[in-house]
Amino acid sequence: MELHDGLEGVVAASTSLSHVDGDRGRLILRGYDLEELAGSYSFEAAAALFWQGLAEKQVSESSVRERLGQARVIAWKRAVSMMDTAKTMAPVEGLRFLLASLVDAEPFPHYLLTTAAMAVFTASVLRARAGQAPVEPDPDRPHAEDFLHMLTGGAPFREHVKALETYLVTVSDHGLNASTFAARVIASTQAGTISAVMGGLCALKGPLHGGAPGPVLDTLDEIGTADRAESYLREKVRAGDRLMGFGHRVYRVRDPRADVLKNAVVQLREGKNRIRFAEQVEQAALRVLAEMKPGRRLDTNVEFYTALLLDAIGLARESFAPVFAMGRVVGWTAHILEQEKSGRLIRPQSRYVGPMPEERRAVAG
Ligand code: ACO
Repeated sequence: MELHDGLEGVVAASTSLSHVDGDRGRLILRGYDLEELAGSYSFEAAAALFWQGLAEKQVSESSVRERLGQARVIAWKRAVSMMDTAKTMAPVEGLRFLLASLVDAEPFPHYLLTTAAMAVFTASVLRARAGQAPVEPDPDRPHAEDFLHMLTGGAPFREHVKALETYLVTVSDHGLNASTFAARVIASTQAGTISAVMGGLCALKGPLHGGAPGPVLDTLDEIGTADRAESYLREKVRAGDRLMGFGHRVYRVRDPRADVLKNAVVQLREGKNRIRFAEQVEQAALRVLAEMKPGRRLDTNVEFYTALLLDAIGLARESFAPVFAMGRVVGWTAHILEQEKSGRLIRPQSRYVGPMPEERRAVAG
């Protein structure tokens, strides 16, 4: 049996949801190029596109808007009594804790409930950690706007809502990435949507996946000025560290999501201030990686400009992984529904490299 380390190059599922063309730097979501959806589709319209035909035969933007609003209210009622514990944890752990409290017997459709819960729990944990009273969801607001409203307690700026929505749609799905694969594995055992979404979140929080953007900002802060970028980054790679926001398992060219998000950042007043410096750091990183990791074809990934975008709309870096989950939950739930409809139990094999009992007995004498 051939071993594929990290399952690299292994095709483990058929999907009608998304396709990552790593050689051409193209991302196709439900038959659309990413660039056609991001910036034009609302969060609800993109979610309807993913859930259409899987959750129900007909799913419209307006029905998603209405039912996500109802689901946010249900999620809020579940969360409110647990905030004293959740607020003692890092936001992504608080989110994990609150998600774990949802029960399989919950009568509301789980793909909607988990999607709603991601926004409600994230906003509630962040406010509670800041010592602020929770803000109830407003079911009549669109999902992204209501998240910023629950987070700040005020009416969010239109440009911030638009940028956040562009981000959430951009990261909604991405082939069989680690968290989606984790979710599909769990769904394949018929453990249910809530457990599968939890598994996705647990895989997402790692710094090699969704936990990278916070460290991207830390790196920019540590570099400070563009003239220090190259020597700083060279030293990091020499020490064996990874440059956060660069490299990808599938893309051998620039991640198309990086440009979509960069364009969204430059539309923001707050983003304009930092973009020039970030571009200089990015160029320095690409030079360093080409020189010190020749032949690996390491380029900018989605997380570099994610960091700038989420920072520009005023989100704290500790919220970046939970906010990523708010977008990616659309893909997770669609993959879970698809897996439940058409997939088999996912059960690969391992290669045993431990001792055989005969060898062990021989050594023991
Ligand atoms: N910085 C420095 N070197 C890198 C980087 C990086 N960002 N990425 C890969 N490399 C090097 C590795 O050290 C390795 O070098 P070696 O051959 O000398 O040992 C070589 O490139 C190949 O690396 P692998 O670990 O085989 O690459 P893999 O496909 O497993 O990794 C990953 C992909 C995890 C994304 C990696 O590029 C990385 O760690 N990037 C930084 C973290 C990051 O930005 N994560 C977000 C990814 S996007 C997302 O998940 C939403």
